[in-house]
This record gives sequence, C-alpha cells and structure tokens, in this order.
Amino acid sequence: MKFKNRRAMLWHFLKGNKRFFVLSILFSGLVSLLDLINPKIIGFTVDSVIGTEETALSPYLESLILQIGGLPYLKQHIFSIALVVLFVAFLAALCRFLFRLFNSMAAEKLIKRMRDLLYEHIIYLPFSWHNQNQTGDIIQRCTSDVEVIKNFFAEHLTNLLRVVLLIVLAVYFMSGIHVGLTVLSAAFIPVIVGYSFLFHHRIGESFRKVDIMEGQLSAVAQENLTGVRVVRAFGREAYEKDRFEEMNQKYMNTWIHLMKLLSAFWASGDLIGGLQVMLVVAVGAVLTIRGAITTGEYIAFVSYNAMLTWPVRMLGRVISEMSKAGISIDRIAYILNSPVEEDPEEPVNAPLDQDICFDHVSFSYGGESPEVLKDISFTIKAGSTVGILGGTGSGKSTLMYLLDRLYNIEPDEGKITIGGVDIAQMDRRYLREHIGMVLQEPYLFSGTVADNIAITQESTEMAEVRAAAKIAALDEAIGKFGKGYETYVGERGVTLSGGQKQRVAIAQMLIRKPEIMIFDDSLSAVDAETDAKIRKALGERTDQATVILIAHRITTLMKADNIIVLDHGRIAESGTHEELLSRNGFYRRIYDLQSPEEA
Ligand SMILES: Nc1ncnc2c1ncn2[C@@H]1O[C@H](COP(=O)(O)OP(=O)(O)O)[C@@H](O)[C@H]1O
Ligand SMILES: [Mg+2]
Repeated sequence: MKFKNRRAMLWHFLKGNKRFFVLSILFSGLVSLLDLINPKIIGFTVDSVIGTEETALSPYLESLILQIGGLPYLKQHIFSIALVVLFVAFLAALCRFLFRLFNSMAAEKLIKRMRDLLYEHIIYLPFSWHNQNQTGDIIQRCTSDVEVIKNFFAEHLTNLLRVVLLIVLAVYFMSGIHVGLTVLSAAFIPVIVGYSFLFHHRIGESFRKVDIMEGQLSAVAQENLTGVRVVRAFGREAYEKDRFEEMNQKYMNTWIHLMKLLSAFWASGDLIGGLQVMLVVAVGAVLTIRGAITTGEYIAFVSYNAMLTWPVRMLGRVISEMSKAGISIDRIAYILNSPVEEDPEEPVNAPLDQDICFDHVSFSYGGESPEVLKDISFTIKAGSTVGILGGTGSGKSTLMYLLDRLYNIEPDEGKITIGGVDIAQMDRRYLREHIGMVLQEPYLFSGTVADNIAITQESTEMAEVRAAAKIAALDEAIGKFGKGYETYVGERGVTLSGGQKQRVAIAQMLIRKPEIMIFDDSLSAVDAETDAKIRKALGERTDQATVILIAHRITTLMKADNIIVLDHGRIAESGTHEELLSRNGFYRRIYDLQSPEEA
C-alpha cells in the first residue's frame, strides 16, 4: 500500500488500537482534575473549618455539608475532611493506574502492529531493494524509529494533553483566587517552556552524535567478535584493543560533554523555577497580610503553583521531541512506500517440466552497473542436464536469478519461457516453488541439521531427510556429529564447513523434488571425490528433473547433455563435452589448464 502523507500512515498504525489511547487520555485527564481538588479542600479547611472565614461553595456542596450537620459538625470532626482528602488521593491513584495500564496497552499494541507491518512489507520487497539498502540501516529503522513513534503517541502526546489540561485548570482555579497573582505566576510559563524547548532542540544534535558513536562502537566490537579468528591469526589483538579504546574514549568524552550541558540546563531551570516560586510565595504572603486573600486561599494557590513547576518544565522537552518524530515517520514511510513484488493479475501457471528457452535476454543491475548479460539465447530440453561454465563475474548466477525471477527482465530486453509460457506471466511463488536453486553461498538458519534440510517442507519424514542427505553425500558426515541429525547448527551450534553447508543446501533442494534443479557453483567447496559421488547419486535419481549445473570445474559438468560457455555476459560457445573439445576454443583451454588426469 502507499500512504498519501504522514497522517495517513500514523492513522493506519493506530488501527484497532484507538480506543486504548482514548481511554488512556481520558484517565490522564481525570488524574489532572483530581490532583487539583485537594488544594481546594485544604484551603476550605484552613479558612472555614479551622478559621472563621466564609468560603463560597457550590450550592451542591453547601447542601451536602448542611445534611451532615453543617460547619459545626466539621469543626468537631476534622478527621472526616482528612478522610475525604485520602479518598480523593485514592481515586487519583486509581485513575493513574488505569491511565498507565491503558497507555502501555495502547503503546505495546501500536509498536507490535508497526513491527508486524514493517516486517511483512520488508519480506516481500524485491531482491533489488535489499541490494540497495543496508541491513543495519533497515534494522535501525525497524527498532529505533519505531520506538520514537511509539513514544510520540504513548509518552509525548498523552503528556502534552495532560499537561495542557493541568495548566488550563490550575490557571483557572488560581485566577478564581487572585487574578494579579495568577498573572505573575503564569507569566513564567512561556519563559520556562520556551527555554526548555530551545535547549532540548539544540541538544538533540548531541544526542544524535552519541547514538552514532554508540553504533560505531558496537560495530567495532561486533566486527572483532565475528572475525576473532582473523584477529588472532594475524596477531592484531593489540591493534584492535587500541582501536576500541580510542573509540570508547571518544564516546565517553561526548557523553561527559552532553552531561555538562544537561546539568547546566537543569541547574538554570531550577533557578528560574525557584524564582517563580519565591515571587509567588512572597507576593502571596503580602496579599494575605493585606487581607486581599485568605490564608486558606494562599495555601491553595501556593500548592497549585508548585504543582505546575515540574510539568511546565517537561513541556518544552515534550514539544521538542514531538517535533523530531517526523524524521522517524519519514524513515519508516520510506520502507512502507517501497513497492513490493507484484504478480500478474491473471497468472498462467503452466507446468514447468518443459523446455526452458532464453530468448535474446539482456540484463543490467541498474544504476551505474554495466550490462551483465548480452543477448543470451539458448534452449534447455526438458529433463536434460545442462552445464554452464564461465569465469567469475561472467554472469552465470545472474542468469539463474532471472530464471527464478529474483530480478525482472525489462520488457524490451528479451524473455525467458518455459513450455512456451513467458515466466513474467507466472506467479513468482509458483515459479520459485518449482525451481530448486542451490545458491552459491548457502545460508543456514539456527536449528538442527534435520530442520535445515527440511526447511521448506512443513511435515517431512526423517526417512526423506536421510535419503536427501545420502544423495548429497552428507549422511556420513552427519553421523559423525555428536547428535547426528539433531545436532544444532548456526551461530550457537556446530560450525559447518563451506562444503558441508553446500551439501545441506543440496539436500534441502532435493527434498522438495522440484521440476527444475539449479546448482549454482554448489560443488565448488567440496573435494573432487565427493563431487563425483554426488553427481553419480544425482544421475541415479529416477525423476526426470531438468538440471542446470553451474561450475568452474570441468569435471563437474562434462557429462552434461549440453554445455554453455559464458564469457563476459555472452555465450562464447556451446555443445557437448566432445564437441567443445574438438572446437579448440575457450573450453579446450580451460580443460587443458585443469589437469584432465583428475577426471
Ligand atoms: N546485485 C548486484 N548489483 C550490481 N552488480 C552485480 C550484482 N550482482 C552481481 N553483479 C555484477 O554482475 C556481474 C555478473 O555477476 P554474477 O552473475 O554473480 O557472475 P558469476 O556468477 O558468473 O560469477 C559481475 O560483474 C558482478 O559484479
Ligand atoms: Mg556466481
């Protein structure tokens, strides 16, 4: 989906979740209101219950007090007022609890929804998108930026509403006591908010610097931990230690600088706040002595004033943080607005056990990269085995990515058909399910060996896993692991060698029994003997899959029905092993180089 603007996107995130936010805002409003009641009660108590002033009360309260026995009763039972204060405090606590509860529910639901939406989108983004974007950056957007948006809603927005309500109500109550004194107190509000806003706005830059340095520091640490073998092997420990220490020192200095600024801010903020409180206390006292306000009113006023100090100081920071959320929203919008892979509306999912035809295919990775494939045409007969030979960078892998539609061929740059149907007309999922590709650099997920072999299949019998592993010449190696097929591989488990990984990937593909099997340099890391063993086992399979064998070792593909020699994105020659040898060209040269005795 595509979002028209920031608001549309935020609205989408909030879906199914708004009532929690509304409830949390409602209860936070109630908290502010209840907090403001107690100073009023205390003021009334001081003036009319302890003292003898007349306090104007609402008619409802007046009749309530009369019903229980009027002021004389209250004078004798002052503790009943204390109970009311306690009750109000209890109500406020309850509302605060409900506010926190609904607020965190809303926040957590929001952040979960955001993560789900992002992840789902990212997983469907085309291969080319992932090539252009750094993994670390994507992760940063999915964690830090998501967190910023969560805080925008859950912390800042509710805080803003709560504090504004608190200020409005407090100023209203205060002005009911003495307008002049209220003006004096309120005059400080814009000053304090403005000061704190400006400060936090400026310091945001320093915080960003600290964030970046933290990222760099952990990058150095991570690089060294991952590459610990290289560090040891080359005796680079001291060098790496110094490099880390230097960065760590810089990081610390930046923090200290930041803390100095922060301390100065809080101290000066205290000073302004203190000045305001002092003025209100002093001027209020004068007004009380002159009889302009009562003692109770004075106490209530001072309480209200004190209640405002902290929230007002927070307000500037909240506004500054909110103004920065836009950047994070844009960073997330960048991901969500990137188009995912689209399938044709009416796909033609023709059977794939047919001839594969590359028809004048040219391809470039876009951007500044040159043309990688140039006018490639050839046909692979259904059920045959074709070998593709070529130097590194000649475009072998690219050819296979195109067949699997990991990248798209531009409309006027030729096409690939299977059984006469253009693969661009097929569903990608369908195509990829039926084409098995063993990638040049296989990737294993953390899990057992058996899990990894059966990865694409939900319910696989152990016998099938074993059968596939046998063909991939892996069964024996697995037997030597402590727990056999239940051995853990991946980051926390046994580290497999390159050749073993390739064989797991081969088994992984075999188990799916695809119509088309691609081995992209999949035997490069296994020794010649194992290579031969695997090829023999593959040849003995009864199903008639079309096999594409990419290799740089001639022995791997010399028995293929047809061999295509790629050179710098062009087909240099093609034919059977014998034909190519007799042609005395590129193939012959490589053959002579690769000590044919090996075969
Ligand atoms: N994602 C990519 N973006 C840009 N260029 C690429 C990309 N992948 C490969 N290439 C370039 O395309 C050419 C062919 O690469 P590839 O198909 O992997 O060759 P081979 O598999 O034959 O070694 C190389 O020059 C390589 O640098
Ligand atoms: Mg390759």
